Amino acid sequence: MGKDVIIALDFDNAAEVEAFLAKFKKPPFVKVGMELFFAEGKSIITRLKKHGCKIFLDLKCHDIPNTVKKAMSIISDLDVDITDVHAAGTSNMMRFALEGLTKVNGVRKTKLLAITQLTSTDEETMNKELLIDKPLIDTVLSYALNAKYCGLEGIVCSPFEAAKVKEACGDGFLTVTPGIRFDDSTKADQKRVATPSFAKLNGSDYIVVGRPITQATDPVAAYNRCLSEFLT
Ligand code: C5P
Repeated sequence: MGKDVIIALDFDNAAEVEAFLAKFKKPPFVKVGMELFFAEGKSIITRLKKHGCKIFLDLKCHDIPNTVKKAMSIISDLDVDITDVHAAGTSNMMRFALEGLTKVNGVRKTKLLAITQLTSTDEETMNKELLIDKPLIDTVLSYALNAKYCGLEGIVCSPFEAAKVKEACGDGFLTVTPGIRFDDSTKADQKRVATPSFAKLNGSDYIVVGRPITQATDPVAAYNRCLSEFLT
């Protein structure tokens, strides 16, 4: 899997998704999160596959190991390219999650990523509310190493941590980075935001971009701007 831009399809329903995708000549790599999946269920995945989209199913599972394993085996049947769990669920939970994902000829059909710290959480909130009395980068690196030792393919982090994660976990360990904004776009609820070019320079494999594309007056132009800033 090469470097790419993944569009976060944070829409309320399938009709909005169809109207959005109709603007694109080639099917983009897309991310389906909780809001769309909870609204439309498994059928949204079948629809996106018909369009020819690669899919990251971002449900951020976090529960007792056995429950997550069962959830992963259901996700495995959907044949998506990537899915994820929270690293905060512990190594035991991540190992159970992997057991739920089917392998074909020794290769997992769906890559599994671990969420480290959400890009909407900053260090102060992490210290004060989660009572994790450490620098944010330490928690991201510790979660990343746990994920790597368990055998996951990579993590989700902010572009500010991607280079350090690569240093600690190796170049082949995937870094998928949301919290992307153009110089001229608003942050909304995100806190640790960076531009596509910053993400590129800092070793992100995939950038996840939602509102700067989905809410742009010209989404295809915004997507192409991301591609050119990130890939060239
Ligand atoms: O609209 P925006 O570009 O902020 O969307 C970012 C997307 O990435 C959202 O779907 C959000 O759920 C997801 N995400 C994130 N931070 C993480 C993991 C996922 O923003 N750490």
